[in-house]
Amino acid sequence: MIELTKTGIDGLDQILNGGIVKNSTTLVSGNPGAGKSILGLQYIYNGVEMFDEKGIYLSFEENEKDIREAAESIGFENWADHVENGDIKVFDKQVLLRENDFTSSLDLLLDDIQDDDYQRMVLDSLTMFQLFFENEQEKRTYLLKFTDILRKNELTTLMTNEQGAVFPDTDIGLENYLTDGNIYLIQTPTESGVNRYVWVAKMRKQNIETDIFPMEIEHGGITVHQNASAFSMMSEDESPI
Ligand SMILES: Nc1ncnc2c1ncn2[C@@H]1O[C@H](COP(=O)(O)OP(=O)(O)OP(=O)(O)O)[C@@H](O)[C@H]1O
Ligand SMILES: [Mg+2]
Repeated sequence: MIELTKTGIDGLDQILNGGIVKNSTTLVSGNPGAGKSILGLQYIYNGVEMFDEKGIYLSFEENEKDIREAAESIGFENWADHVENGDIKVFDKQVLLRENDFTSSLDLLLDDIQDDDYQRMVLDSLTMFQLFFENEQEKRTYLLKFTDILRKNELTTLMTNEQGAVFPDTDIGLENYLTDGNIYLIQTPTESGVNRYVWVAKMRKQNIETDIFPMEIEHGGITVHQNASAFSMMSEDESPI
C-alpha cells in the first residue's frame, strides 16, 4: 500500500489519485506567474491546517516578510502564527545566502532537517538553487545528495522550476530525472485575463489522470476543476506555448 500525502488543494488530490506519493520529490514547473509559489505555500499551509503536518519552506527568491505577505494576501491568514510556533519553518533568501560558502549554508539546513520532525518541504525555486553551482557535475552531485537526504528524512517535497515551455527545444534538464513527479502549471492569455491549467505529467508509483485540467487562483488559493479541458498545447493564436 503506497502512502500518500494530500495537498489539500481541491481537485488536485483527485487527479493525483489521492495525493503525492509520500517521501517523493515532485517538480512543479511553469512560467512566471503560473502559480508555482502559491501552490507551494498552499501545500505547506494545508499541511499544518488540515493534516497536522509540519513544513519547511525554502526560498531563494524572497525574504521571510515577502513570503508572509504573499501568504496572507492569498488568504492564508494563520501563516505568521504557524511560523512563530514552529509548525512552519522558513529559510529565506537572507538566511540561505548568509554563509560565504553556499554549500556550508545548505549543510546547516540539512542538519536542521535531521533534528526535527517535518513532513513537508517546498524549495522555491530549483532554478535559483541551481545557479549556485559552478558546473554540471557539482550540481548533479549536490542535487542527488539533497534529494537523498530528503527521502531519508521522510520529507515529501515540491520543488518549483521556472520553465517557459512545456516541451522545451533544449534537452529536458537533469531535474526531471531526479524527481519522482512532475506537475506543470500552464497559463494562456485570453482577452479578459488568463486561463490556467494544471497537468500532472508524471508521478512514480501512481496511476494519475494525465489529462490537462483547468484551475483557478483566487482568494483562498488554487482550485482545480475536474472537467478535463479541451486544451491542445496551443494558445489562442495557434502558436505553441
Ligand atoms: N488573491 C488572488 N486572486 C487571484 N489571483 C491571484 C491572487 N494572488 C495572486 N494571484 C495570481 O497568482 C499569480 C502569481 O502566482 P505565483 O507567484 O505563485 O507565480 P509563480 O509561478 O511563482 O511566478 P514566478 O515564477 O514569477 O515566481 C499571479 O498571476 C497573480 O495574478
Ligand atoms: Mg514564484
